[in-house]
Amino acid sequence: MHHFHRKNGALCCEDMPLSALAAQYGTPLYVYSARTLRECYRQFAASWSALDPLICFAVKANSNLSVLRTLAKEGAGFDIVSGGELFRALRAGARADRCVFAGVGKTDAEIEFALREGIFALHAESWPELEQINRLALRLKTIAPVAVRVNPNVDAGTHRKITTGTYENKFGIPFEDLPAFYDRAARLAGLRLRGVQMHIGSQITSARPFRAAVKKMLPLALLLKARHGIEYFGLGGGLGIVYDPALESGSPAWWRRQKHPPLTPATYAAAVLPLLRSLGLPVVLEPGRGICGNAGVLLASVVNVKKTARKNFVILDAAMNDLIRPAFYDAYHQIEPLTVRRGKLIRSDVVGPICESGDTFCQARPLPPLSAGDRVAFLSAGAYGFTMSSNYNSRPRAAEILVDGQQVSVARKRETLADLIRGEQ
Ligand SMILES: Cc1ncc(COP(=O)(O)O)c(C=O)c1O
Repeated sequence: MHHFHRKNGALCCEDMPLSALAAQYGTPLYVYSARTLRECYRQFAASWSALDPLICFAVKANSNLSVLRTLAKEGAGFDIVSGGELFRALRAGARADRCVFAGVGKTDAEIEFALREGIFALHAESWPELEQINRLALRLKTIAPVAVRVNPNVDAGTHRKITTGTYENKFGIPFEDLPAFYDRAARLAGLRLRGVQMHIGSQITSARPFRAAVKKMLPLALLLKARHGIEYFGLGGGLGIVYDPALESGSPAWWRRQKHPPLTPATYAAAVLPLLRSLGLPVVLEPGRGICGNAGVLLASVVNVKKTARKNFVILDAAMNDLIRPAFYDAYHQIEPLTVRRGKLIRSDVVGPICESGDTFCQARPLPPLSAGDRVAFLSAGAYGFTMSSNYNSRPRAAEILVDGQQVSVARKRETLADLIRGEQ
């Protein structure tokens, strides 16, 4: 679900032609649709309403203040993974008591920051971390609300770099160890065992792994509720989105294998929520991509087209530093000219100007003929797009724009050359 559609041949965000935004603000340019963000959030809230959900948007997916503020106004909580993300969420108007703090390596300073702000819960991932939180809570003369992240050892069937719920991964406590772990943790005076949590991976396109993980966890959660009075069950994030409606032949093999209909917040809830009813606890959800993935595009301009005997290279002004997902995860992004281009499709490699062969967005993708000055959009770039961008090759980072109906605002200014060296001596 999103609000990027063609009107009279012009690709628009809501009612705003993207070529007008590219002309005014330049490229590379991230453009987000506030209406899409709100509607995706509301779909999660409505689908899970039977279990009194706290929906904590995963800030790592898109941490722009305007995006966070849009969701905070809807009542969203936030899933954060660093002190920096907590800082951003608070700046955007979030309530700390609606935020959960994940991560395998929280520093003392980050934990103290979260405790001072009154975090809803810290999601702990090891025994040393529980001891660390306990020590800091006692020092601050407070009680730290915690949940332990469980590793259910379920393969989410997604790309190996975004699988987090198997024993090959660094995350969570093995689920067999959970009862003994909580019994031991209950003896730490600075902790309140508030919940139990899991997160098995990202871009999950089938309900099967979610159901398998919940089924494994359920008896343990019932036990923890009875023995330690836990108050919530955290399902993490991970709901996949549609990147490639056609599942076309240019997409990577691991994605082509996912042939079943895509999950939506509603079908995900319909498959998983009934399993949790018997637990009688509220849920905490941490969707990132499922809320913002389809709510953003990256606009780029064609700098050059280079034809060789074997290839047609379309060279853009956007690169892997702007959108690293294709290079990092072999990810597929649909590429659409902003205005309709007619002519025979040409198998093209779309690349950026960075000095890496990996700076390739797609290979041999049938695309309409493109020439220098044409503009294109990478669809579904709202999650793990700008947040994973960098200054590699000393490239200033892109600007970000939020469209909300007739209103267009600069959510982040384009970086300047001076920004590149700020802080250096
Ligand atoms: C603990 C945790 N929660 C939530 C998320 C968000 O995942 P997604 O964007 O796939 O919904 C992540 C992503 O890495 C995560 O690590």
